[in-house]
Amino acid sequence: MRIDIIAGARPNFMKIAPIIDAIRIRQLDGSKLSFRLVHTGQHYDKAMSGRFFEELNIPDPDINLEVGSGTQAEQTGNIMVRYEKLLMESPCDLCLVVGDVTSTMACSIAAKKLNIKVAHVEGGIRSFDLTMPEEINRMVTDSITDYFFTTSEVANQNLIKEGVDPKAIFFVGNTMIDTLLKNQSRFSQPSLWKDLSLKEKEYFIITLHRPSNVDEVNQLQKLLSEITLSAQQLPIIFPVHPRTRKTLLSANLSWSNLFCVDPLGYLEFNYLVKHAKAVITDSGGVTEETTVLGVPCMTLRTSTERPETVTMGTNELLGIDPSAIRPAMQKVFEGNWKRGIIPEKWDGQTAGRIVTALEKVLSV
Ligand code: UD1
Ligand code: UDP
Repeated sequence: MRIDIIAGARPNFMKIAPIIDAIRIRQLDGSKLSFRLVHTGQHYDKAMSGRFFEELNIPDPDINLEVGSGTQAEQTGNIMVRYEKLLMESPCDLCLVVGDVTSTMACSIAAKKLNIKVAHVEGGIRSFDLTMPEEINRMVTDSITDYFFTTSEVANQNLIKEGVDPKAIFFVGNTMIDTLLKNQSRFSQPSLWKDLSLKEKEYFIITLHRPSNVDEVNQLQKLLSEITLSAQQLPIIFPVHPRTRKTLLSANLSWSNLFCVDPLGYLEFNYLVKHAKAVITDSGGVTEETTVLGVPCMTLRTSTERPETVTMGTNELLGIDPSAIRPAMQKVFEGNWKRGIIPEKWDGQTAGRIVTALEKVLSV
């Protein structure tokens, strides 16, 4: 039985790494489950893709569809055409997609239309904000998914409300946290630590890449001005996503305590997260990692598809109005940020549960 494992963009790589490890371990015990790794090419810079394969010991993709960048429809269409062609030449028994990026949705549609079963890792999460492409990707993918691997009870309930058969839902936990816990002892201090004389809990780290925050120069400028002002002179490290880099370059923005760097590798990025005073982000994955690492996290979004990071974890939703930043930063400086607990099954064992379920549904 061969499954296709699909990955296309940065957060996918952390999610597939432990699944591949778990399959390989099971193969040593005689499992007949095998996989083909398909990279769509949605992200292609070394800093957004290749480096994670090296760091997380992910094998080279068997196939790279090399779709590159484009509008939502261009990317979706190109991935579908290329993945469909691959499947027609060389089919698989099940298509396993992760997360909520365009590659997730496009490959699930192409597979399902060829009557291939679809499994969705991180199924069922919803922000209910249809202005974000990811929410459409989630809804479309889940509407044609056969097996849902979920990260939370809220996700299970979302699926049940949408009429999904509970037998198709496998509450397994969070593969991104498998990767975090497995690699925690390997987190590595980046060279900028010494260059900038950083000290534990005396700097901030920020990541921003949502179109609503970074595509328009005025909004990005207002957010960064407010963050730099409220940081009380502490350094702010900003690994800049390529989408954000375009806007920053177009306006030549800079602040004395803001240090813009290229996107960091996983081990260096999470070293900085672990030791930061707090994180400011609009990433989904980063809110999960800060929850498990117990680091205060401020999210510059109006909604989240990961509510457990707020109700249980260390994350607070600030919205995208810059005026919310100063009071939140004040709370961090006063030491009044909530502590949080770790959500159920975010225990480093999720990928093993997924592989057990796959063996069962595929009868291998
Ligand atoms: C995508 C995902 C988003 C995810 C993010 C993770 C969708 C709809 N969005 O957003 O959910 O949080 O990845 O990082 O799937 N670019 C490069 N080099 C690269 C990749 C992109 O320069 O390797 C630039 C291109 O100019 C491109 C832009 O970044 O147009 C946006 O890339 P894209 O993949 O369309 O969306 P992201 O904003 O990265
Ligand atoms: N990340 C990284 N280097 C960076 C920024 C983020 O390795 O410079 C990792 C982060 O630890 C997490 C993942 O990228 O594992 C999150 O991806 P991203 O924020 O791009 O996507 P999202 O989770 O918002 O979809």
